[in-house]
Amino acid sequence: MKVGVAKETATGERRVALVPEAVEKLRAADLSVLVERGAGAEASFPDIDYVEAGAKIVTSAALHSQSDVILRIHRPTPAEMKLTHPDQVIIGMLAPLLDPNAMAELARLGVTAISLDAIPRTLTRSQSMDALSSQANVAGYKAVLVAAEAFGRYFPLLTTPAGTAKPANVLVLGVGVAGLQAIATARRLGAQVKAYDVRSETREQAESLGAQFITLKSAIDGAGQGGYARALTPHEQAAQQNELNDVIASHDVVITTAQVPGRRPPVLVTAGAVECMKAGSIIVDMAASDLGGNCELSKPGKVTITSNGVAIHAPLNLPASMPTGASAFYSRNISNLLLNFVKVGELRFDFEDEVTAATVITFGGKVVQAATKKLLQPASRGGAKA
Ligand code: NAI
Repeated sequence: MKVGVAKETATGERRVALVPEAVEKLRAADLSVLVERGAGAEASFPDIDYVEAGAKIVTSAALHSQSDVILRIHRPTPAEMKLTHPDQVIIGMLAPLLDPNAMAELARLGVTAISLDAIPRTLTRSQSMDALSSQANVAGYKAVLVAAEAFGRYFPLLTTPAGTAKPANVLVLGVGVAGLQAIATARRLGAQVKAYDVRSETREQAESLGAQFITLKSAIDGAGQGGYARALTPHEQAAQQNELNDVIASHDVVITTAQVPGRRPPVLVTAGAVECMKAGSIIVDMAASDLGGNCELSKPGKVTITSNGVAIHAPLNLPASMPTGASAFYSRNISNLLLNFVKVGELRFDFEDEVTAATVITFGGKVVQAATKKLLQPASRGGAKA
């Protein structure tokens, strides 16, 4: 069976789905590996490294026509979908819930679409396949570096003959995987860190990394299903924003990571809160996308400087800014998921298995994964709720 590694085409994407280190692992499972020319170049994995690991370098046309399985980071574009052939398997971060119609199109083309971002995250067995976590980890780390780079002062307390520098006050809103890494990174740089999350179970995790956890008087418990947060009611959201406004004003750096599955990210930093921040303060809104962000004033992919001198960074793809490390982790995740399906050199899908049922989105010409199928029913056609 031939496994192909596609060169990513999304603007600004520098990662590659499989790194040379993983080629040998796939070959040991009787798979041969084809790599699109230059696929790893931007992540510092030149073609020669793949060849030395036993892969064959091919053109884009050969990759799409010859591969039984294609490994990628992003969902294929409409042009790339046209290059697929029936029974081809595509594995990547396909975001089926954000665009269920694209999954229906892959089903129509006879493609088996497998989505890494649909992994059941709390299963111990799936942790080594959890690309959402590995990439969120990179993003949380880079978000702090973006803030430190843009900040006009030191992060640590420094006592020098020229005077003493106060440590930066960093606030992390949303203490999931990215938020925890942001706390750890800001602490390593010597900042004083406070953190807040609507799920109370995150207190202990934040504190264990050296952050002070903020408890709001409104005491909302926003724990939802599967370890995720639920969407707050408008009343809860207003109470939360009011209380956070005061907290935000006293911080130099605010890193936001709050997400609610299938929803627009909650607004935690209002325009009013930004107005109360000091000149030179930095916000890094990791939740920003076309759906909106955690800061009311974020412009996805841009840096906005407000009239009171606050810089709002809304990076769209932080993992791509650390392509070598991010690709190495992603590669382990995707090869572990692929090998989960390989039995004696062939792919076998056991839909009784939780990982298979959650990640195989299309099979045999149909959308088979329950959550995506539900979104395609006429009443909810059109993807994620905004
Ligand atoms: P996420 O990216 O969905 O959200 C980030 C954080 O934002 C979450 O902690 C969430 O509670 C918080 N949030 C949402 N709405 C908020 C609001 N209005 N105010 C404040 N905070 C808000 O989360 P992520 O990082 O993908 O993790 C989701 C869950 O999955 C977590 O419980 C995490 O611990 C769990 N997980 C478990 C794993 C395991 O058991 N092995 C592995 C990876 C994740």
